[in-house]
Amino acid sequence: MIRVNHLTKEYIQGQEKIQVLKGVNVQINEGEFVAIMGPSGSGKSTLLQLMGGLDLPTSGDIQINQQPLHEMNEKKRTIFRRRHLGFVFQNYQLLPTLTVEENIAFPIHADGKIKKKHQQSITNLISEVGLKGFEKKRANLLSGGQQQRVAIARALVNHPSVLLADEPTGNLDRTIAEDILRLLLTFNRKHNQTIVMVTHDIFAAGFADRIILFRDGVIEKVIARKDEDYAKYMANFMA
Ligand SMILES: Nc1ncnc2c1ncn2[C@@H]1O[C@H](COP(=O)(O)OP(=O)(O)O)[C@@H](O)[C@H]1O
Ligand SMILES: [Mg+2]
Repeated sequence: MIRVNHLTKEYIQGQEKIQVLKGVNVQINEGEFVAIMGPSGSGKSTLLQLMGGLDLPTSGDIQINQQPLHEMNEKKRTIFRRRHLGFVFQNYQLLPTLTVEENIAFPIHADGKIKKKHQQSITNLISEVGLKGFEKKRANLLSGGQQQRVAIARALVNHPSVLLADEPTGNLDRTIAEDILRLLLTFNRKHNQTIVMVTHDIFAAGFADRIILFRDGVIEKVIARKDEDYAKYMANFMA
């Protein structure tokens, strides 16, 4: 479970203070698929980075499974991240000269030796993301959609509590984007994988159970699929 309380973040640029997050409170439950949607520059990526312990807030707190991320030092946060969180980015961020298999195994290497159980997990994941037969192919020879599949497998290889995805379909055509979103949804439904996905695309957000609408550093609205006005709300957005 993710719990964010009174979270603020400001950046100093020259003489100027930029207040990016202005007091964010949110709770994300285990097994939820949540989309954070909002216009460019509204602070979505900043919020996701803080949830993932990639950066520290100016004030407020973030707990993941009751562990206070904001109180950990850099080293502790790095270890926590590696073991409990998975990240997927818009530009895939694979190691281009490594193979599919090597990219997926990378987080395990960073944490120790590959054991038999890891090998099994890697084999299963490759098949689940639909890349059977591509194990030995170099990442830079793959299509964008295939690269994102590798990135998703890599993010899940340590069975993270939360998968954090920042515009995972931002570089993909609609049909390929849809494949990737369906893949994320499958992991969510089949393995109860908690997913927090940042997007500016209502189509992508429509795959989530709950949409957190973000604007100018604050949560403007939260809408859940089970809410009465969900369909109307989505239709308005599409219009
Ligand atoms: N490291 C940084 N230093 C200064 N300003 C930043 C930094 N990161 C983000 N910002 C600013 O914070 C605001 C929100 O950025 P971001 O979280 O990336 O928004 P979004 O993901 O919603 O597009 C933007 O105005 C951006 O310029
Ligand atoms: Mg962003």
